[in-house]
Amino acid sequence: MSSAETSRSIDTVMREERLFPPPEAFSHRAHFKSLDEYEVVWEAAAADPPAFWEKLAREELHWFEPFTETLRWNEPQSQPFVAEWFVGGKTNACYNCVDKHVAEGRGDKVAILWEGEPGDSLSLTYAELQTEVSKFANALKSLGVVPGDRVSIYMPMTPELAIAMLACARIGAVHSVIFAGFSAEAIADRNNDAGTKVMLTADGAWRRGKALALKETVDEALAKSATVEHCVVLKRTGQEVPWTEGRDHWWHDLMQEASADCPATPMDSEAPLFILYTSGSTGKPKGIKHTTAGYNLYAKKTYEWVFDYQEDDVYWCTADCGWITGHSYLVYGPMAAGATCVMYEGAPNHPAEDRFWEIIEKYKVSVFYTAPTAIRAFIKWGDEHVDKHDLSSLRLLGSVGEGINPEAWMWYHTKIGGERCPIVDTWWQTETGGIMMSPLPGAIAAKPGSCTKPLPGVIPKIVDEQGAEVGADQGGMLTVAHPWPGMLRGLWGDDDRYKEVYWSKVPGKYLAGDNARCDSDGYYWIMGRIDDVLNVSGHRLSTIEIESALVSHPAVAEAAAVGRPHELKGEAVAVFVTLKDAEPTDELRKELKLHVRKEIGALAQPDDIRFTNSLPKTRSGKIMRRLLRDIAAGKELVGDTSTVEDYAALAKLRDDEE
Ligand code: WT7
Repeated sequence: MSSAETSRSIDTVMREERLFPPPEAFSHRAHFKSLDEYEVVWEAAAADPPAFWEKLAREELHWFEPFTETLRWNEPQSQPFVAEWFVGGKTNACYNCVDKHVAEGRGDKVAILWEGEPGDSLSLTYAELQTEVSKFANALKSLGVVPGDRVSIYMPMTPELAIAMLACARIGAVHSVIFAGFSAEAIADRNNDAGTKVMLTADGAWRRGKALALKETVDEALAKSATVEHCVVLKRTGQEVPWTEGRDHWWHDLMQEASADCPATPMDSEAPLFILYTSGSTGKPKGIKHTTAGYNLYAKKTYEWVFDYQEDDVYWCTADCGWITGHSYLVYGPMAAGATCVMYEGAPNHPAEDRFWEIIEKYKVSVFYTAPTAIRAFIKWGDEHVDKHDLSSLRLLGSVGEGINPEAWMWYHTKIGGERCPIVDTWWQTETGGIMMSPLPGAIAAKPGSCTKPLPGVIPKIVDEQGAEVGADQGGMLTVAHPWPGMLRGLWGDDDRYKEVYWSKVPGKYLAGDNARCDSDGYYWIMGRIDDVLNVSGHRLSTIEIESALVSHPAVAEAAAVGRPHELKGEAVAVFVTLKDAEPTDELRKELKLHVRKEIGALAQPDDIRFTNSLPKTRSGKIMRRLLRDIAAGKELVGDTSTVEDYAALAKLRDDEE
C-alpha cells in the first residue's frame, strides 16, 4: 500500500470514535469480566509466553504421554524458524474433541445440530459422534491409510465432512480440505502438492436447490492426480455418478462393514494434523501446515475466550469447513470445548432471504459467527427478513474475514443483536491457526471497525520498512514478536518459501502480510494487505493466480488482475487483458470468465474484463497496478466497456512511478 493510501484509510477509521462497552449483564458471567482482568492476564502471558501456555496445555488437553519441553524455538538468527510446542508429549486432536467428553460423562450432550439445505436435519451427541468417527476411521484404515498419509476432502457441509476430518485426526492421517467450489484443476494441484493417497467426496452438493456434480469434478481431478489410490463417495443428492471399479467406494458400504472400535492413536505433539491451501502472492497456492497439540490447544482456548463459551450455548459458525474458520471454529475449537454446534449446508438465501434467521430461531442459537460480506448482503436484502423471526436467544455476535465497516457493524449490533449483544471482530489468518486479536466480549469495549486488542499470549508489533517499531497511530506492517501454539509450522514441502514469505523481511518476527495501526488506547486497526492478495467476500485470492489462469487461454497475450471496491464482496476482481490476434468481443469476455472459473473456481471468476492494446508499465517493466486499480474503481472510466483502450498511453500522463 502506498503512503497516500495508508493515510487515506487512517482518515476514515480515525473518525470512528464510538465506544461500546460490554453490557453489565454480559460481563457478570463472562470468562474475562473487566479490562483490568484482561490486562493482568495479558501482561503475565507476555512476560513469559511458554509458562503461560504450558499450564494451559497440561490442564486442557488429554495427554497419553506428558510433554517434557514447552517450546523449542531457535532464536530466529538460526535456521529453521519453525517453532515446536509441547515437545515429547503424545496426544490426539480427535480424542480431545470427542472421546474426552464421553470419558468425562458428557456423551449425551449434543455436538452437532445439522440443517441440510433442502430442510432435512440431524442431531449427533458426542457419544454418537464417537461411534461415527471411529467407524469411518476404521474405513480409512481398511483402505490402507496409515499415520502421516494425506487424505483430501472435497465434500458438502454435511456432518460427514466433520466426521471425515476427525476420523483422519483419530488415526494420524493428515487432512487437506478443499472447498467444494474449487475447480478440478485446483483439486489436482492440491492433491499433487500434498501427495494425497485417498480422496473423499460426495455424489453432489445442494446449492440454492440445484445439485452440483462434485463426483464428476473429482473424477476430472483424479485423472491428473497420480498418487490417489482410492475415492470414497458419500451419497447426498442421489444423482448419477461416474464410477471407477476398484478405486471408488460408497461411504455407506464402507461404514456398514466398519467396526466402531477404533481407539485414537497417540500422536506426537508436532505430528501434522492438516494442510490447508491458501493464496499467496505468487501463482502457486501455499499449503499451510498445522500440527497437533499446539493447534488444538490454541483453537480451544481462543474459542472459549472470544466466544465466551458457556455450557448451555448453542453456537453457530456459518463458515464452510473448506476454510480455516471452519477448521478452527466449527470443528477443533468448539468441539475441544465440548460445545453444541449448529452446522448448515446451504446458501443464506435459500429458499428465502430469511434462512439464517429461521435457523437461529429454530435452534435458539446464542452465539453467531459470520462474515462482513454476508452482513452486507443481509442489509441489502432488507430488514423485513430479519423482522419475521425471534432472535432473542442471541447473546454474542462475531465477525471474520475482513474488517467490518462501521455501518455494517451498527446494523449487526442493532438489527441482529438487539443492542444487547457484544460484537467480536476477530482478526486472524489461515497461518495463525486461531484468532489473534479480538475484543474479549465481557472485558473490552468495542470500537466499530477495530479488532481491538491482542489475546493473551499474543504480542503484536507494528514496524516500518526497517523493522523498527512505530509509534501510536502510525501505520506500518503487522508482525508478531513471539511464537504462539497455533502458528503454522511451515508450508507443505517448501521450507524456502516459508522462510522467504514470513521471516525474511522483518528479522525475528512473524510477518502477517497486513498493514495496521495501533491507536493511543492500544486498539488495532487493520488497513489491508501489503502484497497483491485480494480479499473477495472474505476469501483470499492471488492476483497472479488469476493472471496465470487467463494467460493459459490461447487468445490472451498478457493479463493484469486488480481489486476494486464492491458493495457486497468487499473487493471484486477486475482484469485487464491484451489479446494475441483474437477480436475483443463480448463472447470472448464471457469465455474468459468461464475459463478462470474452470481453472480456479467460481470464487475467482472476474467481475470485469477490459481489453487493452497494452498494459501500463513502469520503466523497469512492472505493471502499474495502482493506476489499474484507479481505472477499475471507475476513477478514469465507467462501466464494463468493450472498447479497446490504450492504458499505456494513460500511464504516460502520470509522472509517478510505482
Ligand atoms: C486475511 C486472512 C481469518 C479467517 C478467515 C480469513 C483479512 C481476516 C480480518 C479482520 C481485518 C481481516 C486479513 C488477513 N482479515 N479477518 N477481522 N479485520 N482483516 O483467513 O483467508 O487466511 O485471510 O484476511 O487481511 O491477513 P485468510
